[in-house]
Amino acid sequence: MAITRPPLFTDSDMLTFRQTPTSEFRIPYTFVEALNEGTLFDRSARVFEEAARTQRLYDVVVGEDQRIIGAGMLQDTFKDADGIHREEELGALIVHPAARGIGIVGLMIKLILVHRYAVLRTSGGEEDYIAHVVDGNRGPIHALLTAGFEDLGPMKLHPGEFDGHIEHMMAPGENYVPMHAYRFNHHAIDNLIRDLWALWHAGRELTCEDRNLRLKVDFAGMVDPAFLDARVERIGPSAPTGA
Ligand SMILES: CC(C)(COP(=O)(O)OP(=O)(O)OC[C@H]1O[C@@H](n2cnc3c(N)ncnc32)[C@H](O)[C@@H]1OP(=O)(O)O)[C@@H](O)C(=O)NCCC(=O)NCCS
Repeated sequence: MAITRPPLFTDSDMLTFRQTPTSEFRIPYTFVEALNEGTLFDRSARVFEEAARTQRLYDVVVGEDQRIIGAGMLQDTFKDADGIHREEELGALIVHPAARGIGIVGLMIKLILVHRYAVLRTSGGEEDYIAHVVDGNRGPIHALLTAGFEDLGPMKLHPGEFDGHIEHMMAPGENYVPMHAYRFNHHAIDNLIRDLWALWHAGRELTCEDRNLRLKVDFAGMVDPAFLDARVERIGPSAPTGA
């Protein structure tokens, strides 16, 4: 018997990029758990709750019933023990398999950085944003580089160096996970603001020509378009050329 599955979304649906309300932290947590991707660190519910409580948990929801199709977070690392130099890990980046390849995570990374760095202006812009990608996972790399992350090269991550489990990523007999670390270049923030401003004023759509898909997006609850207008008026709509 043929099984009819409803599509995940249609052209008339709106994708809403949100800061996850604290009371809903379990939704992204359960979403990540359910998809069970071996390329993600295994974070506890406590880490998701902490991220939501500190305004650093994000999701993408669609349709009238606001079903989740994407998530991401910023998380403290163990490296800020000196109390001066803060480092935050961009992670738990995940998109529903049927919604991959249309630019959702690319847009979400830009929104997270602009929300954290420019809208909330959390700690005077002194913190570093880091991401780790296990060797062989090409999925997030293009989106990270496009958003202004730079490859810091290969590194070995050992259990205990991160607030989450990584053992499932270790090859038999090894005690580390081979990864590449990435760090956000703060100079890219103006370009991200310009990108978001341009997207907002040019139809607010993510498109995928191959699948003949155009999806409206809304991120006003996360990054106010009035904020983008004000910033672009100051920095100009395109990056200065030359030195
Ligand atoms: C990684 C992941 C979040 C990417 O989400 P996505 O919304 O499909 O990514 P985007 O559509 O924004 O992709 C951005 C770019 O990367 C490219 N890309 C995406 N997945 C890719 C893959 N597996 N291999 C090569 N390129 C890929 C896209 O073509 C796109 O390029 P473009 O901007 O030139 O069109 C998604 O694949 C996922 O959920 N993977 C499982 C969990 C995971 O590994 N998370 C990352 C942990 S660090």
